[in-house]
Formats: sequence, structure tokens, C-alpha cells
Amino acid sequence: MKRIGILTGGGDCPGLNAVIRAVVKASRRYDWEIIGIKNGWKGLINGEIEILTDYAVSGILPKGGTIIGTSRTNPFKKPEDVQKVEENIKRFGLSAVVAIGGDDTLSVALKFHERGIPVVGVPKTIDNDLSGTDYTFGFDTAVSIVTEAIDRLHTTAESHHRVIVVEVMGRHAGWIATFAGIAGGADEILIPEVPFNIDQVCRNLKARYDHGKKFSIVVVAEGAKPEEGGLIIQSDETDEFGHVRLGGISHYLAKEIEKRLNVETRVTILGHVQRGGTPTARDRLLATRFGVAAVELIKNNDFGKMVALQGDNIISVPLAEAVSKLKTVNMELYEIAKIFFAESYLDKDDKTPEETTTVNLQSYQNPPMEQ
Ligand code: F6P
Repeated sequence: MKRIGILTGGGDCPGLNAVIRAVVKASRRYDWEIIGIKNGWKGLINGEIEILTDYAVSGILPKGGTIIGTSRTNPFKKPEDVQKVEENIKRFGLSAVVAIGGDDTLSVALKFHERGIPVVGVPKTIDNDLSGTDYTFGFDTAVSIVTEAIDRLHTTAESHHRVIVVEVMGRHAGWIATFAGIAGGADEILIPEVPFNIDQVCRNLKARYDHGKKFSIVVVAEGAKPEEGGLIIQSDETDEFGHVRLGGISHYLAKEIEKRLNVETRVTILGHVQRGGTPTARDRLLATRFGVAAVELIKNNDFGKMVALQGDNIISVPLAEAVSKLKTVNMELYEIAKIFFAESYLDKDDKTPEETTTVNLQSYQNPPMEQ
């Protein structure tokens, strides 16, 4: 009988429990015992674990978050923590570790693999910015939540003739903003990959107003930056992987838009709502397929790999490839988003709704004489 450890690291995301459940259930075929490591890599430093029985994972498939907890712990910050992790892996008799995480958690997994620890990775993040996989689970749920929010914001923006700036997560990649922005029909989508020009943003919004569309929805990724300036951050403090806390770009934009266009503007920062709650069916399916595939990697002693989705196939890629670079937004997709920014599609000679109504009323009041 093998004992396999499983951990979830970094920001939580919908679908983590679906992976844990799949690993536990798929392991039963081989009669393995699955040990939940509490709170990411921290649990291997502190020696905090729990046995994951079939009973423990029963009913967790639709549940958001992670039943074993998570943290942004980097054991490579201190040599003594690396040693503790390795000692605990031996002490608990773990034959392998399944690390479910984004680039930080999986970079740590790669380092342990290089030190001879049998590790496999499962890609998770709402940001969808891991290389080697078309999608990470959690992303589809975040996109659905943001799309629904944009739909709701449309009705209030339209009623009050306002601009609403919606700030979404994604760190240095604009996947959530681009997908949800297109799906929700946003009038402007600003992403970290393409520094924005505030004059151009305002020209687009003004073109809408000049054509009688007296409200607009602007979606901005938290990592978007103006052409002339740097990132807007919440605080200088960094986590153990050196990341600052992003957030607040929407306030800068709202102020500039209101000042330049003289249109009432409001901000909605969706924040952690995007990471909470039940996963979509698509994420549950992807997470389940990843969990089963991770068990097969261990069965085949195929370590140092991450399970991945390419096309509709579950494959595996070296962890080194997955964490080598950030997967940023495909520019062909962003070009599609731009087609719907006002300046590109509004014809300057188009009539406003008021002009059209007036013309119609006039022809109604003076119907052509019958011969
Ligand atoms: O990486 C996932 C993510 O949600 C990012 O989109 C966001 O910048 C960050 O985590 C927020 O982290 P925290 O939950 O630590 O505030």
C-alpha cells in the first residue's frame, strides 16, 4: 500500500475539492492511502496532516475552497524549512506528493522534484496564466461570476446614464477581463498585456455618448497599467513569493473618465467573490479529469510532471515548462474584443436614437398623401 500526500497552495479557487475527491477515489483502485497536507507547503513544514478517507471527501465535489486549507508558503525562503519538508515526507512515509497550485506552488514542487522528491502537479488558478495547459480549473467559474456581474451592472449603468468601471482579478494576465468582457459585452476592456492610453479610452466612451448610448461598462484587469505609468498597488508589502497586492486601478480610471467626459462614474471591484463558491460544471469536470490523471502519473512513476489540458485531451507536461513563463492573453482574442470598442464600429454619420425617432415621428405626422 502506498501513502500519497496531497496539498493545495496559493489562492484558493473553485474546483480544488473536486481534484481532492478525484485523487482519493481514483486511488482506491490501487489501494493507496491519501494524506491531506494542511495549508499548502506549510503543512509539510509544521507536520500537519489528516487522512482523507472516502467519507472525508464525500459531498465535496460542488463545494468551493479547499477542505485541507491553503497558504502562500514558500519553504525555499529558509533552508531549515526545506529540510523540515523533506524530513516530514519521510516521517509520514509518503511515496509521492500531489501539489495542486499555480506558478508559485508548482515552482516549489519543481525544486523538490529536482532534489529527488517524487512530485506531480495539478494546475489551478482563476488567472489561467500557467503555461503548458490551455485552461486551469477555477477560471471558467471566475469568468461566469464576472459575466453575471457585468450583466447586472449594465441595467444599473443604463438606468443612471453612468459609466461603471469593473475591476477584476488576474494579476499580470488579462484572461478573466478578456473572456468575461467579451461575454458580457463590455465597451472597453483593459488588460496588463496592452498598456492603455487614457485619451483613447475616453474617445471610445465619448463616441458612444455622441451616438446616444448614454452609459458604458469598462472592464479593467487589476494589473492593467496606463502607457505612461506603472502598476497601481494596494500596498508595497510582498508575500513569500515576492508578489505585491494589486488593486485600485479602477479608481484611477473612474476619476479620469469623470473629469474628462463629465459623466457620472462608479467603480465595482469584484475581488474575492471571483474565487468563492461552487465551481461550474466545466470546472468540476476539468478538475476531476486532472485528479484522475495525476493518480495515473504516480502509478507510472512519471514524476516532475504537471497534468494539463490541450485541446480536449488531458496530457502531461514537465513542471519546468509549466512555470517557465506566464501565459498571457492571446492577442487574436483581444483583437476580437477591440472590435466592440465604440470608435471602431460606430459610423460618424450614424443617426442617434433621438434623431431616428424624430424622423420617424415626422413621417408619421405627415403621412404621404394617397393618390
Ligand atoms: O492568483 C489568484 C489571485 O486571485 C489573483 O488574481 C489576485 O491578484 C490574488 O490571487 C489575490 O491574492 P490574495 O487572496 O492573497 O489577496
